[in-house]
Amino acid sequence: MLPVVELGRSGRRVSRIGLGGMWLSIEGRPDRRQAERVIRRAVELGVTFIDTADVYCLDDDDLNHNERLIGETLAALGAESTVLTATKGGLRRPGGRWETDARPDRLREAALRSREALRLDRIVLYQLHAPDPRAPFESSVEALAGLQRDGVVELVGLSNVDLGQLQAAEAIVEITSVQNRYNPWDRAAEGSGLIDYCEERRITLIPYSPLGGARRVQLLQAHEPLRRVAARVGASPAELVLGWQLAKSGRAVPIPSARREASIESSVRAASLDVDDALVAELESAFGSLPP
Ligand SMILES: NC(=O)c1ccc[n+]([C@@H]2O[C@H](COP(=O)([O-])OP(=O)(O)OC[C@H]3O[C@@H](n4cnc5c(N)ncnc54)[C@H](OP(=O)(O)O)[C@@H]3O)[C@@H](O)[C@H]2O)c1
Repeated sequence: MLPVVELGRSGRRVSRIGLGGMWLSIEGRPDRRQAERVIRRAVELGVTFIDTADVYCLDDDDLNHNERLIGETLAALGAESTVLTATKGGLRRPGGRWETDARPDRLREAALRSREALRLDRIVLYQLHAPDPRAPFESSVEALAGLQRDGVVELVGLSNVDLGQLQAAEAIVEITSVQNRYNPWDRAAEGSGLIDYCEERRITLIPYSPLGGARRVQLLQAHEPLRRVAARVGASPAELVLGWQLAKSGRAVPIPSARREASIESSVRAASLDVDDALVAELESAFGSLPP
């Protein structure tokens, strides 16, 4: 069974490997039945955390696609109360582009639409997708605090923030999680002290694109130094990378995407790997020769 960890200081527990929903709804998405099969397989394997966003869709005419897919599939599986679906607001998809829009009114509208799409009375974890350079950061966070006061959302998280922004947000509302890119190519979360700070404050780090994304995961899987370590340990390079993230932060919940059942099956296996300090050092040395 998948190990679990407390989500922030909420008392709620989630599996240490989550499922990122993005690729089930953006350009290149699988058909509906395949998407349902992936979600069902994740649930069967003990995944109790799914990450989504209103903008995981094709464009503004298709908003909330991923939330509807997840909400409907979990309801059909009877898993809507055992799986925690975390969503995000603060972006838009005009013409299929990704643009920030985290103005307070817009965040409120987005949260209400997401709650309906997810078929929930209250969104458990609502994350600011990204700070919006056109809206003061504090005004976006205050909007999330307002949604919490009004019972629209239970817990508040942030995404794509630095340590200073996290601390500024904490002065306004309790922050349960931080979702930032973290993978062998982008280790800014380590260098900036964000990981350590999250550990100390019991804030859940949610590494996104944990395998580097759909293109770079191929580079990982083909990388000879990583393949050698993987063969010795009896895992794949991708599984080792997820195991490395779990070892780097005892509170991390990586959210690899999957369009194939085999991908989530493999990712879940990563939680059983024993990645000690020596293996962490060996992996980090191998990361140094990954192609960009
Ligand atoms: N907050 C943000 O701004 C932000 C930005 C980007 C992503 N995200 C979140 O992070 C999630 C993951 O990010 P991502 O999709 O960019 O990157 P990713 O999970 O690192 O990479 C996804 C790719 O890896 C493959 N894969 C997954 N597990 C695998 C495994 N165990 N072994 C081999 N290949 C595997 C998938 O294959 P298949 O698709 O073929 O199964 C897919 O091509 C998203 O779904 C989304 O929830 C958040």
